[in-house]
Amino acid sequence: MPDKINAYLVQGGNSLKGEVLVSGAKNAATKQLVAALLSDEPVILHNVPQIGDVSATIEMLEGLGVKVTVDGSTVTVDPRTLNTSQVSEALSRKNRIPVLLMGPLIHRFGEASIPALGGCKIGPRPIDIHLAGLEKMGAEVSEGDGYYKAKCKKLKAAMIELRFPSVMATETLILAAAKAKGTTVITNAAVEPEILDTAKLLQSMGAIINLETNRTWVIQGVERLGGAEHSVIPDRIEAASFGIAAALTKGSIFVRDARQDDLLSFLNAIRRVGVPFKVEKDGILFGHADEYHPVVLETDTHPGFMTDWQQPFVMLLTQAKGVSIVHETIFEDRFGYTEALVKMGANIQLHSDCLGSKECRFKHQNFLHSCIISGPTPLKSADICIPDLRAGFSYLLAALMADGESRVTGVELIERGYADIIGKLQTLGAKINVE
Ligand code: EPZ
Repeated sequence: MPDKINAYLVQGGNSLKGEVLVSGAKNAATKQLVAALLSDEPVILHNVPQIGDVSATIEMLEGLGVKVTVDGSTVTVDPRTLNTSQVSEALSRKNRIPVLLMGPLIHRFGEASIPALGGCKIGPRPIDIHLAGLEKMGAEVSEGDGYYKAKCKKLKAAMIELRFPSVMATETLILAAAKAKGTTVITNAAVEPEILDTAKLLQSMGAIINLETNRTWVIQGVERLGGAEHSVIPDRIEAASFGIAAALTKGSIFVRDARQDDLLSFLNAIRRVGVPFKVEKDGILFGHADEYHPVVLETDTHPGFMTDWQQPFVMLLTQAKGVSIVHETIFEDRFGYTEALVKMGANIQLHSDCLGSKECRFKHQNFLHSCIISGPTPLKSADICIPDLRAGFSYLLAALMADGESRVTGVELIERGYADIIGKLQTLGAKINVE
């Protein structure tokens, strides 16, 4: 393998067959590395995926003085040497994780400074919900010169109702509440399985945290949190991605460690399309059918169909017989990637109306957030550049199905979130070279 990979050269037309092991969830592991800073002893995390976003998070923690030891998929975070409340832009590598540091840094230093956030370009992605919640907990928040700053001697508990059940705002506030004075109640909160997994880590560290009915987290702040050992849940986005890869390449893939609990709405959706699957003790076996059916679907917060499954699912619908609709209700600008698929032969149209069965908060705002897909359409190979992480997997799928060789660039985006993606696909029989 070359040191730096510029492109994947993907030969289409091969069925993917065999077994693949799902890695730990990116959107749990990166948060848990930060949660460890609330402790005053080392925290050991197992099943941490070896991906770009984990490396970036570890580098950021090391830049703050934290000692991090990596041994394969086990990462030990020793927060005792944490020595600064200032996260510089150079340290953050422009992903979205720094905002989670607000609570842990305020608890340690009485202040925190984090740079403006990066991450996938799928909409404006403001952080007003995070900041409003921190203010309710007593933090004095300011913004300027590309940095967010927060100050507070001791965070105090609050009743916080989120304007929208944002995943990371919920996490920011849980981390802030874990050691705040009193009991914090967060309503209209996100309840994604990755958040629950982080709550389990916090409980093992000594936190008192409960998920109650109606999207409500109740966190009774404690004075100190200690060490713990925790295994990160398997990545449900990666699991779904391989399931669709089996269906689209006319293959059969046993996705080891895929968990039905976390994939309920995904499995219902692919069943409606006609993709066969069998839930087994240690994973899920995904197969293929000769014909797929069109569906109407909206993305939603958990337990709905997640926005990060939308991109491979749209690829699947390009091969369904008839007209399908996908209405994206989480991010206003998450269909830009379809333009390249249209050039490869897909029949996809974008609309700003809320198509599907319900209206969403993007109604009348001219965001192209609904998508009509007509199929089935064969795809031609092409040179394609990955625009964001999840679109990246759907481009790989397109290339794996197309006739001839496609050249896929922008691969560092996909490597941010999928561990050993090329190795795993090659093991399943994909013909991929790197350049
Ligand atoms: C998390 O992003 C994930 N990222 C995303 O995964 C995922 O797509 C998303 O949740 C939704 O499930 C990480 O966990 C690192 P949100 P997050 O806050 O938390 C609006 C991937 O590929 N909003 O739930 O940033 C926001 O603009 C990625 O792994 C505000 O208006 O998403 C969006 O429309 C991409 N103000 C909606 O809420 C705020 O303060 C949902 O965003 C916060 C959010």
